[in-house]
Amino acid sequence: MTAHTAIHNPREADHPIHAQFTSRFSPRGFTPKALTEEEVLAVLEAARWAPSASNNQPWRFAYGLRGDAAFGKIADSLVPFNRSWAEKAAALIVVASRTTIEKDGADVPVPTHAFDAGAAWGYLALQAHHAGLIAHAMAGFDPKTLAENLKLPEGYVLHAVVAVGEHGNIENLPEVLQAREVPSNRFPLDKVAAHGKFV
Ligand SMILES: Cc1cc2nc3c(=O)[nH]c(=O)nc-3n(C[C@H](O)[C@H](O)[C@H](O)COP(=O)(O)O)c2cc1C
Repeated sequence: MTAHTAIHNPREADHPIHAQFTSRFSPRGFTPKALTEEEVLAVLEAARWAPSASNNQPWRFAYGLRGDAAFGKIADSLVPFNRSWAEKAAALIVVASRTTIEKDGADVPVPTHAFDAGAAWGYLALQAHHAGLIAHAMAGFDPKTLAENLKLPEGYVLHAVVAVGEHGNIENLPEVLQAREVPSNRFPLDKVAAHGKFV
């Protein structure tokens, strides 16, 4: 049995929602299982179907599979803490967005590019969860290194690196990470949403 099924999930929704939202979380322990390119593409396929302003689809993804050159280039950009666990993932996916679109031969700004890319990452994470995988986003990377390593095109912005793979047994993690391998809670809904005003 993997830790995925063994970990106690204390999360309780304040209002009735689909269980996928509380059962998904961001662990750091991976099994050694590799992912095929097809499995990674299936996760990205879900991201592709996210909504975006004017259907601009400004999200862009670059990925590597553990052991290949692209994976190494992405892993090299991670801050040491993230690298320590994320380089054991089966795949690393970089989430970026293009800040403009081409319209009538001119580059027009897309003010919602980051919002749209965030929605795509959310879809990606839930699809990974449905596929029995884990997806853990990281903002802890060096953007200069990552941009250089992947030859980031001009006008693209980096948002996150996502570690994807099969959830490993908690005992294989260093003790300090074992303590963090639990689903976190959230602010109560009334601390973030109110009728007719912001809280
Ligand atoms: C944009 C973004 C950046 C994050 N950066 C990191 C990171 O650098 N390192 C890390 O260990 N976790 C990182 N996380 C994971 C969050 O800490 C985690 O999603 C949050 O605590 C909520 O927990 P959950 O995903 O398990 O529900 C990041 C998550 C997001 C969405």
